[in-house]
Amino acid sequence: MSNMTIVGAQWGDEGKGKIVDLLTSEVDMVVRFQGGNNAGHTVIVDGQKYVLHVVPSGILHPGKMCIIGNGVVLDPESFLDEIDALQSLGLDVSPERLKISYKTHLIMPYHRIIDGAREGHAKSKIGTTGRGIGPCYEDKKARVGVRAGDLTDPEVLRAKIEHALQEKNVLFTQLYGLPALDPETVFNDLMAIAPRLVPYLADVSTLIMDADAAGKNIMFEGAQGVMLDIDHGTYPFVTSSNVVCDNASIGSGVHAGMIDQRIAIVKAYTTRVGSGPFPTEQLDDMGEFLRRQGGEYGATTGRPRRCGWIDLVVLREMVRLCDPTSIALTKVDVLSGLKEIKFCVAYEYEGKVMQYPPQTPRGLDNVKPVYEVLPGWDEDLSTCTTWESLPGNCRRYIERIENILGVKIGFISVGPDRNQTFRR
Ligand code: GDP
Ligand code: IMO
Ligand code: MG
Repeated sequence: MSNMTIVGAQWGDEGKGKIVDLLTSEVDMVVRFQGGNNAGHTVIVDGQKYVLHVVPSGILHPGKMCIIGNGVVLDPESFLDEIDALQSLGLDVSPERLKISYKTHLIMPYHRIIDGAREGHAKSKIGTTGRGIGPCYEDKKARVGVRAGDLTDPEVLRAKIEHALQEKNVLFTQLYGLPALDPETVFNDLMAIAPRLVPYLADVSTLIMDADAAGKNIMFEGAQGVMLDIDHGTYPFVTSSNVVCDNASIGSGVHAGMIDQRIAIVKAYTTRVGSGPFPTEQLDDMGEFLRRQGGEYGATTGRPRRCGWIDLVVLREMVRLCDPTSIALTKVDVLSGLKEIKFCVAYEYEGKVMQYPPQTPRGLDNVKPVYEVLPGWDEDLSTCTTWESLPGNCRRYIERIENILGVKIGFISVGPDRNQTFRR
């Protein structure tokens, strides 16, 4: 075993939480390195469902260290609600095993307001989760953000909030028609919960590197999916952080050479929440079949997910950007009962057939999927535990994906429960 990064390969909701939980048994520490409570990672153990938003999915395994890295954006109130909920389910979420980097940026009430107001005003909505993620990352880049470590110095914190609100209150009152926020109220609200947050703060970069030096195994848990990456995804319909594997090192303060395994989580079909291009989307009964069979409703916002066939052009791009050492293929069971299964192997763009997304200024706009078709299978897969027990047509489907991508599919998931996964 060694250190590994787990990322979503498509537009999120591939089943990262489930695979992170499964592999946590083999590591000592799980680190979230980007995103925030826009994520919803579902883990089901013995019929009990847990949805993790910013707490690493490793938290379900007693004794494993869980870390929230500098690359994450943390909503203090939502974090406390999340740990309260986990604690009420009997989990240990004490500061002894859960740490937050001093450098993690805090999502402030004004970030959530801006997120909501912008989406309300926009002609072309991104369809964000409304959690204030984008505005918080903006402030980080603008160097006016509030970091978790600021909670230990009230005067610095107050000055930062006053400074931020000078600009934002103009936006609220003059552009959005909203009341101004009182800096003192924002400060007092945050100070009221600071005593609960401060015990979690730590120099996590050193913690992780020390663990590595002591021979411990570390897993880096990504959120969202590669096509939602701020640089390499379907901009502007993306999230505001880098999702690709290599951000694991930057988002947690370790050098890239420390991580040698990269597992991409691929759903056996495609889903997307929010707006933006989705070439293989099925707007008819087929999309409805996938949504119903796959239970495709957002784990964070409850929105119905858009559904369509697997897109190997998108996945080839993910392989090019991340070079995964292995793929975990999830939700294969959802495809049972289909006569035929389509998969997009190329795009047609301006009369040309392309294996990769067209490297044009407009990315995936105006592409048409080129499909290959394979016969489906009827068998219920939910109790399959070996490669041999899968129907022949299912094995051929999986092998075709593997051949096209040139990456070993090392894990196959056939149901939401922790034990409905096997290695190949
Ligand atoms: P994440 O954001 O990548 O962690 O994924 P989500 O939790 O948002 O969405 C994945 C959904 O699929 C959850 O409801 C999981 O319980 C469920 N799930 C995960 N793997 C499988 C699988 O192999 N089969 C089925 N039927 N459901 C799965
Ligand atoms: P997990 O980790 C699916 C999408 C939103 C929206 C866009 C921008 O559970 O896979 P944001 O609130 O981040 O500014 O929204 O990104 N999005 C996700 N879609 N799964 C997620 O997380 C997502 N996190 C953000 O729907 O289209
Ligand atoms: Mg999710």
